[in-house]
Amino acid sequence: MKLNDRVAVITGGARGIGLAIAERYLAEGARVVVADIDAAAIDAAVAALDGGERVRGIRLDVCDRASIDAMVEEVVGHFGGIDILVNNAAVFDMAPVLEVTEASYDRQFAVNVKGAFFTLQAVAQAMVDRGRGGKIINMASQAGRRGEPLVSMYCASKSAMISLTQSCGLALIEHSINVNGIAPGVVDTPMWDEVDALFARYEQRPLGEKKRLVGEAVPYGRMGRPEDHAGAAVFLASDDSDYVVAQTLNVDGGNWMS
Ligand SMILES: NC(=O)c1ccc[n+]([C@@H]2O[C@H](COP(=O)([O-])OP(=O)(O)OC[C@H]3O[C@@H](n4cnc5c(N)ncnc54)[C@H](O)[C@@H]3O)[C@@H](O)[C@H]2O)c1
Repeated sequence: MKLNDRVAVITGGARGIGLAIAERYLAEGARVVVADIDAAAIDAAVAALDGGERVRGIRLDVCDRASIDAMVEEVVGHFGGIDILVNNAAVFDMAPVLEVTEASYDRQFAVNVKGAFFTLQAVAQAMVDRGRGGKIINMASQAGRRGEPLVSMYCASKSAMISLTQSCGLALIEHSINVNGIAPGVVDTPMWDEVDALFARYEQRPLGEKKRLVGEAVPYGRMGRPEDHAGAAVFLASDDSDYVVAQTLNVDGGNWMS
């Protein structure tokens, strides 16, 4: 087991990719905190993970500094420290450039950039104070690798995540904290159901068509599944990745090369 007794906080861990990583981390011996804004989804995730004392659900809004600080304090108080952060919570929206609203911009940047940065900062501070280093994994996206005409703000927010991974990775490695990222491609999660519905609206397609088309276009031959990202998340959380610094790894079935 590669993560024996490590304490991992997974934001947005109540469903989708975050939940799949929580499940694998448990199997690798970690103690896992499912930190999410959706209290009912946390309860369902904790029950499904069935990890007893090794799993803890904490309600967290990454947009709220007090909520982040309270989460870190609770985890440190309960488990003694944090070894791993999977900085995974995010929201999606899309609209033609000429129709993007300030509210949509603010929401995506509040969660995907500001929330991710200040969660990273608070957890990194706890890691520095403890003096044992740590691993931070930022969930980016292929959307951060290039723009899309209908997805300007989400793409920009994920591009920011790749940039934060570079800057924070360089800044924190002196404390033996590795900051790296994962860039998924198209993954069959509740988020992609929202994406599909928005494409249906803006491209006048039947529901489900965009999802089918993007899956067929993946070189691997299908859409990603949440569990496809768990192996990379274990690698980047384990000692095997000690010499990997400030990188974002594409886990996307071959969709993107860089
Ligand atoms: N699904 C995809 O195709 C895809 C592709 C590339 C990247 N990603 C990225 O992977 C990550 C996970 O995506 P997913 O598809 O599993 O998403 P999802 O929407 O299924 O899950 C996201 C989770 O984040 C939580 N969350 C939202 N706002 C929050 C907040 N303010 N504070 C705390 N938690 C909050 C939600 O409650 C939810 O449980 C995201 O960073 C996403 O941008 C997803």
